[in-house]
Amino acid sequence: MKIGIVGAGGHGRVVLDLILESRGMEPAGFFDQKGGGEGPYGWPILGDETALVENWSGSRLDGVVVAIGDNRSRRRIFERLAAAGIPLVSLIHRRAQVSRFARIGAGTVICAGAVVGPGAVIGDNCIINTGASVDHDCRVKDHAHICPGSVLAGAVTVGEEAMLGTGTLVIPGITIGNKTITGAGTVVIRDLPDNLLVVGVPARLIRHLEEEEDDLEKGTNGRSGLGKETDRQSRPGKKTNGQPG
Ligand SMILES: CC(C)(COP(=O)(O)OP(=O)(O)OC[C@H]1O[C@@H](n2cnc3c(N)ncnc32)[C@H](O)[C@@H]1OP(=O)(O)O)[C@@H](O)C(=O)NCCC(=O)NCCS
Repeated sequence: MKIGIVGAGGHGRVVLDLILESRGMEPAGFFDQKGGGEGPYGWPILGDETALVENWSGSRLDGVVVAIGDNRSRRRIFERLAAAGIPLVSLIHRRAQVSRFARIGAGTVICAGAVVGPGAVIGDNCIINTGASVDHDCRVKDHAHICPGSVLAGAVTVGEEAMLGTGTLVIPGITIGNKTITGAGTVVIRDLPDNLLVVGVPARLIRHLEEEEDDLEKGTNGRSGLGKETDRQSRPGKKTNGQPG
């Protein structure tokens, strides 16, 4: 099976490595906005995303995977490729442990050392990164990223496009909202609504992310449930560095 890798950055190289470790799979090369030429470790960059869509029928590839850490970019490209009818393959590293009773969506990547328990449902286009653990009956929704070493206890729900930073711990039964981000080392012991940036032990609010900041400007906000809002929120529009490229 010949696979194209969309994204020639850090996560792209992780995916290249994963494919090379897999039986019956072969990397064709990368697609990246940098255009053509030589990509990581001597593998070719075959073109950009537009070239991939336009030349798909003659490409002789069996499928592609979008290997971009940033959730929003990964989602945008995944949706474009899916709409063009390009098969988006899910990849599981041969040294990941995925229960036969788990479900893994299209285009999702499960990295080396990750564990996915029975009854877990992982959506489309997710990343379960190196050494992350997603225990029984968890639900990880589309386009989410569980960063390296994070641990989700049983029956945790993670929203669409959420990112749990490296080493995040979540106690059983918690729900984390869409697009919410946790910083490295966060311990989540209460439900988190959509569009928050939280850090620390236990998780505390740093700020509302874009959509809620928009609401703040319109004077319609205040539903975090994480206690008193702090002066940290007086930094509207600040971009978080949490999301890799
Ligand atoms: C949480 C995070 C996204 C915040 O980035 P940011 O928006 O640039 O925020 P800042 O660096 O301005 O930090 C804001 C405050 O939170 C604190 N903070 C930031 N990250 C923290 C963390 N992981 N744990 C505890 N406190 C943290 C800062 O010290 C600062 O506190 P202060 O206002 O009292 O000085 C980032 O620090 C982080 O943890 N990233 C991890 C991403 C990751 O794991 N990526 C893996 C990709 S595979």
